[in-house]
Parts: sequence; C-alpha cells; structure tokens
Amino acid sequence: MSKRPIRIAPSILAADFSRLGEEVRAVADAGADYIHLDVMDGHFVPNISFGPSVIKSLRSWTDKIFDVHLMIAPVDPYIGAFVDAGANIITAHAEAGPHIHRTIQVIKAAGCKAGLAINPGTPVEVIEPMIGDLDLVLVMTVNPGFGGQSFIESTLAKIARVREMIDRTGREIDLEVDGGINPETGARCIEAGADVLVAGTAVFRAGPAGYAAEIEAIRGRRG
Ligand code: DX5
Ligand code: ZN
Repeated sequence: MSKRPIRIAPSILAADFSRLGEEVRAVADAGADYIHLDVMDGHFVPNISFGPSVIKSLRSWTDKIFDVHLMIAPVDPYIGAFVDAGANIITAHAEAGPHIHRTIQVIKAAGCKAGLAINPGTPVEVIEPMIGDLDLVLVMTVNPGFGGQSFIESTLAKIARVREMIDRTGREIDLEVDGGINPETGARCIEAGADVLVAGTAVFRAGPAGYAAEIEAIRGRRG
C-alpha cells in the first residue's frame, strides 16, 4: 500500500459534454482531487474525444489539478498546447512512439509534471529507465479508448511491481490506475499499491447529487 493519501480523479469522459464546465465544478465541489482529462486522437486509440481548446475553456471552472492523459501519437508537437491550456500533469503512453524518453524531457522542460502510462499488455520494465524523472506512473487497467469497460485482473500484479519500483526511489511519485474502477476494484488497486484512482462511469453515473458519495465510496470511505 502507498503511504500517501488516496486521491480520486474523476474522468470527464463520462460527463455530460453539453455542460462540461458545470460538470467539472460539480465533481470538484464533491471532493475530487484531480480532474482527469482523456485526450484521444482516433489514431493511437480507436476513439476521438477533445483537445487543448476544450481543456483551456474548462480551466476557469476549478483550481483542482488538471491531470491530462494523452492517448495520442505523436505527442511532442502538442505538449506546448496542453501546457498553455492549463495542464498540471501531462501523461504520455510508453507505446506512443519510439522516443518516450524525449517526450518526458519535453514535458518537464515545459514546466509541467510528467506521467508515463503503460497499457495492460506492456511490461512494467519499460518504466525503469525513466523513473527518476517521473511524477506519476499510470497503470492502465483497461485497454485505452473507451469508458465503461471491465477491469483487467492481470493488472493488479503490475500495480504491485510498480509500487515496489516507486518505493525504491524514495521519491513521491503518484501511482495512478485508470479503467473499470469502482469501489470494489478500487479497493483492490489500493491494496496493490495505487494511490490515485481514475473513475469515469462509477462517478458520473450517479448524477450530480450522487458525485460526493461515489467519490468517497471509491476512496474507501462511506459517502
Ligand atoms: C480510458 C480512459 C479512462 C476512462 C475510464 O481510455 O483513459 O480514463 O474514461 O472510464 P471508466 O471509469 O468508465 O472505465
Ligand atoms: Zn484516462
């Protein structure tokens, strides 16, 4: 288990897109720690979501950490636009291209926190050469591209291995999980060592009146 507090990052991919500003404010007021923003390009993943201009338009709705998950390839040409849009953490995928090390350097050089994501089929070893530069590791618990998928069990062992890797550094690095997270799968991820839980469907299905209870249930407290 992580020694750090559990943080919840609602993914607005499951929000009402016709009123995204209100949705962001509502989950922020309901106790979200990070706002998770899923950027998809229809190329790296088989779905298209939104880009930097949407994120920029949401920035004035909350002071919470904007946790930007880039499911795009290439990454580097767009980093500046996401920094300008107000990203606090930018996470890129290890699978997004041959120069992920450079991508992490570009994110850091732009003054942003840097995250590295790995898909369910990618071994944790790819993280090792970059761990000294990372602020966050995202272990995907579904194959990226869509909300509402089922949690993949084999990712739990990977979470535990990344926990050990992070603890060995002695640095504060977020261990985030994303995909199919609800109070039950979330508890197992926390047990394995995750400390930032992304949840789309499990938060937003409740409607605004239920956001706070859902967030606290995923965190492991009764709402
Ligand atoms: C998947 C995205 C996730 C997604 C999670 O590609 O990265 O952030 O929104 O959705 P749920 O919580 O519904 O699995
Ligand atoms: Zn995501």
